[in-house]
Amino acid sequence: MKFSHAIFEKHSFILLVGILIVVAIGGIVEIVPLFLINTTIEKVEGMRPYTPLELVGRQIYVREGCYNCHSQMIRALRSEVDRYGHYSLAAESMYDHPFQWGSKRTGPDLARVGGKYSDEWQRLHMEDPRQVVPESIMPNYAYLNERTLDTEDLVNLLNANRLAGVPYSKEMIAEAKADLALQADPDGDATALAKRYPKVNVRDFDGDPTRVTEMDALIAYLQMLGTLVDVNAAGLEAKVQQ
Ligand code: HEC
Repeated sequence: MKFSHAIFEKHSFILLVGILIVVAIGGIVEIVPLFLINTTIEKVEGMRPYTPLELVGRQIYVREGCYNCHSQMIRALRSEVDRYGHYSLAAESMYDHPFQWGSKRTGPDLARVGGKYSDEWQRLHMEDPRQVVPESIMPNYAYLNERTLDTEDLVNLLNANRLAGVPYSKEMIAEAKADLALQADPDGDATALAKRYPKVNVRDFDGDPTRVTEMDALIAYLQMLGTLVDVNAAGLEAKVQQ
């Protein structure tokens, strides 16, 4: 019998079975890679979970919709690698829930923006981007300076990430509030914090050491992006397409 689409159009039951088959294939294609994810992500040195301050900063990044204009995913293309640095490795977003790869690039990619500018540049730029980039079309976020950081949900936030597979230890969760305060305190003793979270930046980020604001958290997050993995380490030389 010659196959004809009319079979589906005339028999609603066959149409239903057809739909189920197609949806099942679509589902399998999406679900199977999730089971293999542990074997597909290449392990790299240096990845660690976000510090509590960085994690809250990341929540603010998501809340403000920064991903609507910024990606965090450097593709293996000559133009991107020349501009932003080594292309992003899968392992670099292994603790991202949800990931921030993004699909819209009104502004530059931020995957390796950490350390590119000073904290003061970041603060001025967030307050009013035109103070430092006159032609910028990025919105102002000056109110982040005014808002004291809300840490009410901090422990829940770490626990939620732990549930999603981020290896936060009991100790990290118990110390979360103290760690958050310590990271933004230039005078505190951050030895234990640095042990839990290697390469952590400890300082006052927003120019106001008297309190921890949303600006502190967001800048702490931006300043660590792309700084954990030494991408120039052996075996990771950039292979790019022209
Ligand atoms: C409407 C689109 C838009 C939104 C929303 C937006 N940005 Fe931007 N952003 C831009 C543009 C365009 C630039 C490039 C001009 C400039 O530097 O201001 C930029 C630049 C930047 C830079 C400097 C990057 C570099 O390498 O020079 C950072 C950092 C940044 N944005 C962070 C953020 C954060 C954090 C948020 C959310 C709180 C945000 N942006 C929201 C459009 C946007």
